[in-house]
Amino acid sequence: MTTLSIEELEVQYQLRDKTIRAVDKVSLFLKNNESLGIVGESACGKSTLGLAIIRSVPGGKIVNGDITLDGKSTLKMTEAEFAKTVRWKKISMVFQGAMNSLDPVFSIRQQFEEILQAHDYRGDRQKTINDIIDSVGLPPTVLDKFPHELSGGMKQRVVIAMALVLRPSLVIADEPTTALDVLVQAQILSLLKKLKKEGMSLILISHDLGIISEIADNVGIMYAGKIVEFGTLQEVYSNPKHPYTQALFKSMPKIKGEPELISLKGTPPNLANMQTGCRFYDRCTHAMEKCRKEPPKIKTESGHVLCWLYE
Ligand SMILES: Nc1ncnc2c1ncn2[C@@H]1O[C@H](COP(=O)(O)OP(=O)(O)OP(=O)(O)O)[C@@H](O)[C@H]1O
Ligand SMILES: [Mg+2]
Repeated sequence: MTTLSIEELEVQYQLRDKTIRAVDKVSLFLKNNESLGIVGESACGKSTLGLAIIRSVPGGKIVNGDITLDGKSTLKMTEAEFAKTVRWKKISMVFQGAMNSLDPVFSIRQQFEEILQAHDYRGDRQKTINDIIDSVGLPPTVLDKFPHELSGGMKQRVVIAMALVLRPSLVIADEPTTALDVLVQAQILSLLKKLKKEGMSLILISHDLGIISEIADNVGIMYAGKIVEFGTLQEVYSNPKHPYTQALFKSMPKIKGEPELISLKGTPPNLANMQTGCRFYDRCTHAMEKCRKEPPKIKTESGHVLCWLYE
């Protein structure tokens, strides 16, 4: 059964004189116990997409589309119903940079207690906190420390544990390994893999194709507010179809093979001022006249690729 389905989702930030279309008609799905990687360059809308799934986009608004969880629309719920039944309980998020926003004046234990209190948690709170800190591979002594006493890797485990404490079935992790050294990155990835083995579904947001390849079953490549290619990890990595995906792979260093890195010319389009046709038009080496006029929307057997080359 499909756990999460996103249909034609649009999320915008309304500024005084312009509208930023950060997520524009995005459709995706994620089945139970699967992991989905979202990759794309900075400012393409990855975090906004994640925040929209938990219906909490500071400064922004979901203006169109639908999100269903186990067949039920979460966007049609009232805020009270969503907060009570879905946010943190079924879907939680490890926010980008969250380890740097742990409250410096409270111990880790107090910060966990606050979460359980806010959700009116009825079970044995101390046992729940101890169990979750153990499951992310931290010793119980961490609980009585303050954030400044912990290393970056420990803080990142703490924020992951916070997202997990109410045992959600889906966790959205936004750049959970960025700014950590490679050894700690590997530890965090193996933790996420372990949680997935235990039955959790995962949306992993990253700009790093290598990280995504470690853990994702399916991959969505995001460009300028759109998922331009969506498919299984195997399909997207071994046979990238969209010219943007192809360019991403060519710009990634390899140990063997092409000695020269090929960088993409031009810059991403302004999300406040969108052209009518394909958003990649200006930078695409395969651009055709049709691409300038009409936005592509092509379904493939198991996913989609937004490119007129595959019409
Ligand atoms: N609160 C906000 N108000 C106005 N614009 C915003 C706000 N948050 C994000 N944006 C804009 O929305 C677009 C998408 O931002 P978002 O943070 O989702 O990108 P991202 O892909 O997560 O980037 P990064 O890889 O740098 O984290 C950007 O153009 C950004 O400037
Ligand atoms: Mg982001």
